[in-house]
Amino acid sequence: MNVGKWLSLVLAVILFEFLGYRRIQASFTPTDNYLIVCGSSQNVTFQGRTFVPDFLHSSISLKAKRSYYVASSNSSVPSSIFRSARIFSSIASYEFDIKQRGRHWIRLYFFPVVVPKSGHNLISAPITVVTDGFVLLNNFTFENYNGSFLFKEFAINVTSVTLSLTFVPWNDLVSFVNAIEVVSIPDSVLPDQALALNRSTPISGLSEFGMETVYRLNMGGPLISAQNDTLGRTWENDSKYLRVNGSALNVSIDPASIKYTASITEETAPNWVYATAETMGDANVSNMNFNITWVFPVNPNFRYFVRAHFCDISSQSLYALVFNLYLNDDIAAASLDLSTLTSNLNVPYYMDFISSSSAGSDTLTVSIGPDSVTDITNATLSGLEIMKISNEAGSLDGVSSVKNLLPLSSLKKNKIWIIIGSLVGAVIALVFIGFCCCCLLMRKPKANHQGHPLHGNSQTMTKMSMASKKSGTASCISSASSSFGQFFSLQEILDATNKFDESLLLGVGGFGRVYRGMLEDGTNCAVKRGNSRSEQGLAEFMTEIEMLSKLRHRHLVSLIGYCDERSETILVYEYMANGPLRSHLYGTNFPSLTWKQRLDICIGAARGLHYLHTFAARSIIHRDVKTTNILLDENFVAKVSDFGLSKTGPALDQTHVSTAVKGSFGYLDPEYFRRQQLTEKSDVYSFGVVLMEVLCARSALNPVLPREQVNIAEWAMSWHKKGMLNQIMDSNLVGKLNPASLKKYGETAEKCLAEHGTERPSMGDVLWNLEYALQLEETSSVLTEPDDNSMNHIPAIRLTPLESFDNSVTMTNGGNSGTDCNAEDSLVNPCGR
Ligand SMILES: *[C@@H]1O[C@H](CO)[C@@H](O)[C@H](O)[C@H]1NC(C)=O
Ligand SMILES: *[C@@H]1O[C@H](CO)[C@@H](O)[C@H](O)[C@H]1NC(C)=O
Ligand SMILES: *[C@@H]1O[C@H](CO)[C@@H](O)[C@H](O)[C@H]1NC(C)=O
Ligand SMILES: *[C@@H]1O[C@H](CO)[C@@H](O)[C@H](O)[C@H]1NC(C)=O
Ligand SMILES: *[C@@H]1O[C@H](CO)[C@@H](O)[C@H](O)[C@H]1NC(C)=O
Ligand SMILES: *[C@@H]1O[C@H](CO)[C@@H](O)[C@H](O)[C@H]1NC(C)=O
Ligand SMILES: *[C@@H]1O[C@H](CO)[C@@H](O)[C@H](O)[C@H]1NC(C)=O
Ligand SMILES: *[C@@H]1O[C@H](CO)[C@@H](O)[C@H](O)[C@H]1NC(C)=O
Ligand SMILES: *[C@@H]1O[C@H](CO)[C@@H](O)[C@H](O)[C@H]1NC(C)=O
Ligand SMILES: *[C@@H]1O[C@H](CO)[C@@H](O)[C@H](O)[C@H]1NC(C)=O
Ligand SMILES: *[C@@H]1O[C@H](CO)[C@@H](O)[C@H](O)[C@H]1NC(C)=O
Ligand SMILES: *[C@@H]1O[C@H](CO)[C@@H](O)[C@H](O)[C@H]1NC(C)=O
Repeated sequence: MNVGKWLSLVLAVILFEFLGYRRIQASFTPTDNYLIVCGSSQNVTFQGRTFVPDFLHSSISLKAKRSYYVASSNSSVPSSIFRSARIFSSIASYEFDIKQRGRHWIRLYFFPVVVPKSGHNLISAPITVVTDGFVLLNNFTFENYNGSFLFKEFAINVTSVTLSLTFVPWNDLVSFVNAIEVVSIPDSVLPDQALALNRSTPISGLSEFGMETVYRLNMGGPLISAQNDTLGRTWENDSKYLRVNGSALNVSIDPASIKYTASITEETAPNWVYATAETMGDANVSNMNFNITWVFPVNPNFRYFVRAHFCDISSQSLYALVFNLYLNDDIAAASLDLSTLTSNLNVPYYMDFISSSSAGSDTLTVSIGPDSVTDITNATLSGLEIMKISNEAGSLDGVSSVKNLLPLSSLKKNKIWIIIGSLVGAVIALVFIGFCCCCLLMRKPKANHQGHPLHGNSQTMTKMSMASKKSGTASCISSASSSFGQFFSLQEILDATNKFDESLLLGVGGFGRVYRGMLEDGTNCAVKRGNSRSEQGLAEFMTEIEMLSKLRHRHLVSLIGYCDERSETILVYEYMANGPLRSHLYGTNFPSLTWKQRLDICIGAARGLHYLHTFAARSIIHRDVKTTNILLDENFVAKVSDFGLSKTGPALDQTHVSTAVKGSFGYLDPEYFRRQQLTEKSDVYSFGVVLMEVLCARSALNPVLPREQVNIAEWAMSWHKKGMLNQIMDSNLVGKLNPASLKKYGETAEKCLAEHGTERPSMGDVLWNLEYALQLEETSSVLTEPDDNSMNHIPAIRLTPLESFDNSVTMTNGGNSGTDCNAEDSLVNPCGR
């Protein structure tokens, strides 16, 4: 297309937009449009709009020490949006990324859903919600509960890149929320100034205040719910606010005949509002000279913003309607003549006022009536919006300011602590890395290899990311499920584990102890008892419970239930009779696994990981794939466990998540470590290490070996390049496998261990290749590898587990470090602490 044509097209489009014809093409699409349902695992449709589970949103994070979700299947709950809730037992903040600054609707939905056995009483839960600058709700409870839900709508001018909604529980009571909307409002909708009633002078600076919608009425018309309004507003029928029932007469026209203008559009109010109105009724009234009055209960301590919508739909001709508008007995608009103002019938018009609080009355009245200077005895009103304006304390509920309501130890201080904590953490991490390097250099003077930055064994490390502000909160992102597992009382747990009998101890991990247990119905289970003192552990506990509860797969360890009574954090898992894969590879006296068994196990684990990576819209990255996190059930079916470090993957439009480096030495993707960018391919790398470990039956890192053998990934890759993997594989396999199968397996592992994530296959490809290797193994009837034992075969090196290297070190963001055995490692080599 030539440039001239193109330019004129662009000009035409610009002109078109400029002239205000945009609404003809499409209705307003808000830039920020969060509709979230809290604590649900599925999308919920409410009033024709789709609410998405809070944890699935990439631009929302939840900062909370503890949050729970409850879900109920009670069908008498008003709507499915109220069947789930997120419950906070300590101060908690949702943070929304805001793309466009300016006014936003904040809509909150509350319903005290009853979940038997959960132990939470939401009816007496006091709800206090604040933003950075405004108090939205202060100490509301459902104490005088009448069966309906609570809906609150606020309009807040957001001036920073995030909006935080903080829930402040009071005393030992919890707080909760069922659903939240955060939606951009077009700038034109809410004004910066309005007429002050008592002086008829404009008051400006309204955008600095918070507002709460208290009444929004569609005069003479039906209820208009959120789906019929481009801004998701709800317009109520006015009849219940009329002072005298028969005084108003409803009129209506076809909504399509409403003539919007450039400044008054569907965003101002939907055409259904303007297409109906209340006019003066003539039935049963002797004196035609009367007012129609609506009465609204209000809080006398606040000022209110009042918008009256008009549209002359009842007149047959222009200049046939002149009337007065009164607010609180004050004349707000005298001799209002819509024809002069709009020059046409069926054209919408509105006026804004601010009611003074000086009246001291707990009602606000709005009246329309005939103007005595004309002989016209009629009046009309199409819609009415009444919004509370925040007071000097920045509150819309009570006199306490945000500062008064947040405990001293809250946000600002926390932020300082996070900064200090991460600095201390980073310093400790550096010192620790330095120390490790020194140890290695002293042990092996010639080692100065660049391939793998870290050495050690099963050491879990956390390092604060510099790349992303979100990293600190990432592990606190909560997720949920409606089938979120059974709730166990502490007594049931005590019975199942014989009061945490030490003889049932399976292991001790980063966040606590793991016991074998038996439930009332005889089911075996593993009981993970959280160590509530550890902040790090707590965050991981919450991540794990919420991740696991929504993941159900044959190759993932299932969560049976949980217990959070008396500040215990206990998870109940299915029991895996054969323990971790590693204990069947080396270091124990278990019978050696056959090649086919090993392939089956690897395929199972790959299936589990593939499911994680492709789960829902966003993948879940395991972050700590290793042989101790692959557990085997009584039939040697492999199941992936330990989602403590799991993290939701990048959103579709991003290629990675910037995050703190977590994982285990020896399995850590070098690219992830260098760039701190997490992708599914980091798990693929770790899985490549697992494949090598399964083949060679030695640990991923063994520092007692000669330098070139310390790291299995490097060592096995060098042998693979020479085409001699069979030289270093487990001696128990020698002569008992099909070389073609081994070749395919070796190639798969090699691809997984590629230097760059982009060169590595997806977990689905890995799965496919492993299945192919299994096929090659199964179809080979005769094994031919005659010279296998004759070559200078180096027998697989057996690992002698070193106590000191089996301890995992965890550094938390707060800088406090602890030394604990990894739970599954301890199955092989239990710590005696
Ligand atoms: C849930 O809703 C979101 C947004 O409307 C949509 O992108 C997503 O596909 C939905 N998910 C499911 C499982 O329906
Ligand atoms: C179901 O919900 C209704 C209304 O919220 C409540 O009155 C009732 O007790 C609930 N039933 C159960 C079994 O929780
Ligand atoms: C909240 O309200 C209850 C009574 O409903 C009252 O006892 C309590 O002191 C209030 N709490 C705060 C923090 O205002
Ligand atoms: C229930 O109470 C709320 C306020 O607590 C009120 O807005 C609502 O209209 C009431 N519903 C009924 C049915 O009385
Ligand atoms: C929001 O507040 C900022 C700063 O006070 C102001 O510049 C802006 O115009 C306001 N936006 C709206 C839509 O009121
Ligand atoms: C408004 O509500 C009342 C009862 O609340 C009902 O009788 C009336 O028909 C409604 N009006 C319209 C126009 O829907
Ligand atoms: C609201 O929208 C629904 C479908 O979107 C439609 O069926 C209904 O008639 C609309 N109601 C009004 C009052 O416009
Ligand atoms: C108005 O009408 C409603 C029913 O529509 C009735 O319940 C109410 O008592 C009436 N109020 C008056 C003041 O007549
Ligand atoms: C007034 O409202 C009632 C109740 O919804 C409705 O049946 C009637 O048609 C309306 N009258 C006019 C003139 O629109
Ligand atoms: C007001 O106008 C409406 C619609 O034209 C009409 O039905 C009604 O009778 C008028 N009221 C009076 C008091 O004339
Ligand atoms: C209508 O109400 C206003 C304010 O209350 C009052 O001044 C006026 O006299 C009333 N008009 C009639 C006709 O009652
Ligand atoms: C008018 O209203 C403003 C704000 O509400 C108030 O400060 C002022 O005192 C009022 N003036 C009169 C004369 O009532």
